[in-house]
Amino acid sequence: MEKGEVLMAKKDDILLEVKNLKKYFPVKKGFFGGNTQHVKAVDDVSFFIKKGETLGLVGESGCGKSTTGRTIIRLYEPTSGEIIFKDAEIGGLSQKEIIPFRKKIQMIFQDPYASLNSRMTVGDIIGEPLDIHNIASGKERMDRIKYLLEKVGLNQGHANRYPHEFSGGQRQRIGIARALAVEPEFIIADEPISALDVSIQAQVVNMMEDLQNELGLTYLFIAHDLSMVRHISNRVGVMYLGKLVEIAECDELYEKPQHPYTKALLSSIPVPDPKASLEHREVLEGDVPSPLNPPSGCRFRTRCKYAMKKCAEVEPILLEVSKGHFAACHLFSK
Ligand SMILES: Nc1ncnc2c1ncn2[C@@H]1O[C@H](COP(=O)(O)OP(=O)(O)OP(=O)(O)O)[C@@H](O)[C@H]1O
Ligand code: SF4
Ligand SMILES: [Mg+2]
Repeated sequence: MEKGEVLMAKKDDILLEVKNLKKYFPVKKGFFGGNTQHVKAVDDVSFFIKKGETLGLVGESGCGKSTTGRTIIRLYEPTSGEIIFKDAEIGGLSQKEIIPFRKKIQMIFQDPYASLNSRMTVGDIIGEPLDIHNIASGKERMDRIKYLLEKVGLNQGHANRYPHEFSGGQRQRIGIARALAVEPEFIIADEPISALDVSIQAQVVNMMEDLQNELGLTYLFIAHDLSMVRHISNRVGVMYLGKLVEIAECDELYEKPQHPYTKALLSSIPVPDPKASLEHREVLEGDVPSPLNPPSGCRFRTRCKYAMKKCAEVEPILLEVSKGHFAACHLFSK
């Protein structure tokens, strides 16, 4: 999909929509563990993803990116909110009712080694989802495994080998082949290249782009590497302490960031001319507050140089600052 097209999203073009999603983790506090508090990992987040697009999700460690992905795919039960996949509300479905959707939504994880069973051959790792969903058996199963291996740049002979015989990049390719086995429509990729050597990160990302174009896939791409996110995404969402603080078309967000947090986050990307970078640099100071007890009003206010009285009193909501570009900050509220 060409960049820019997504701004004209029509209702019919939306594959996934998340409305007011919350995921709180209960944690026991106190000597006898009697006092339960909640980690507000994802706290009232809403966004949509259009068919065939890649939505990048960025933000500092602990801001809730993985929890958002894992809740969408129902590895975590949502605390509240809606997850609408192709007109079906899947957030409230039981684990049995969700089974048909498991084929349609797949996840790729950061650590390919941990997510692959080391005692299974690569063929069986890729074939297992075919068995679980009764998709293929016998020769048809084997043919599909070979096809998938080739799709991800490996070869048929690799089917009889074990994960430890492969490099990190190859193992991630195996993880991707496994995810593709059930012909999903939507893939949540949680830091899929962060554990890989820099030299092979681009190869894996390029392969993911090729697969997307060929198979019509839609991605939620979670990553730390802001340059890589810019490369692969149509739109990008920025999270801070459980909140989505800004979302826009990719080039717009990187060239005209509006939220003070996004500006500071993007300032941390190294630029070729260090003098130019210093002039406009917004330094991100201080630590991220605890999600157990986040600041009142705007959660970024303890680190924001523009913070005013209202910021402690009223929580800013996402407002459209220009077409398709939303930011949650009182600098933009009337
Ligand atoms: N199972 C859990 N139980 C309790 N707290 C959790 C659990 N999983 C995540 N958290 C907390 O929820 C918050 C969000 O975590 P999450 O893993 O979603 O962040 P992230 O943005 O993916 O971070 P990273 O970039 O480090 O992967 C963090 O404060 C984390 O400690
Ligand atoms: S709402 Fe206030 S504290 Fe929050 S980012 Fe905007 S100016 Fe800063
Ligand atoms: Mg994470």
